Amino acid sequence: MRRKIIVGNWKMNLDGKSVENLITGLVSRLGEFKHLDVGVAPPFVYLPMAVCLAKEKSLAIAAQNCYPESRGAFTGEISPPMLADIGVDMCIVGHSERRRYFNESNEFIARKVRTLIDNNIKPILCVGEKLEERDAGETLEVVGDQVRKCLSEVGSDEVGEVVLAYEPVWAIGTGRNATPEQAEEVHRFIRGIIGDMYGEDVSSEMRIMYGGSVKPDNAYDLIAKDEIDGALVGGASLALEQFVGIISKVL
Ligand code: PGA
Repeated sequence: MRRKIIVGNWKMNLDGKSVENLITGLVSRLGEFKHLDVGVAPPFVYLPMAVCLAKEKSLAIAAQNCYPESRGAFTGEISPPMLADIGVDMCIVGHSERRRYFNESNEFIARKVRTLIDNNIKPILCVGEKLEERDAGETLEVVGDQVRKCLSEVGSDEVGEVVLAYEPVWAIGTGRNATPEQAEEVHRFIRGIIGDMYGEDVSSEMRIMYGGSVKPDNAYDLIAKDEIDGALVGGASLALEQFVGIISKVL
């Protein structure tokens, strides 16, 4: 049985006080939700505080990005060893906003995945097609290519550290979520690719979250699908009651 997982991606939002309030509020509610994993991804500058507030609680703290080298002349960047040093558990990579605004390629993302695993941080690897790719019938081809390339440096004994997130780009921040059936089709396809790459045992354990306009009122139908192991939540993770509303839909 795969354990469900819900992660809030706070993107470039919130300030110190609201990060503190949200994490404190979440931690006080987590006792109700011991049957699943919950995490949040605050902006870099709030990570040390977040780790401190979540310490020894069952809330995972994720970074939103990293650079795929351990150290060096990369002004403004943050490395996986630095994230490990402050106690970060997970790191989002391959998010469509980074692919789009920072021109990140699958090859570059693959290097991030590798460096994260080397530093015992779980990569949350996002994949997903753009609207024009879906309309052109290219969804499976695009997503398959992303999964294969981004995992190209990961072996079968370590890929279990990775959590995948299928996030159709046209559903992110638009209020238009994929239907549970649309999402499930792609999740099943991704699991098949993991099976081809690493074998059935590995693929049956691989967690694949859905992301894109997940809200309390659509979360249940998505997460109840066999192939959907949780959600990566943007906008609706910024308010405690909405985020808890989503978490509480995981039965
Ligand atoms: P959204 O964002 O929930 O605001 O659509 C999801 C994401 O970008 O991970």
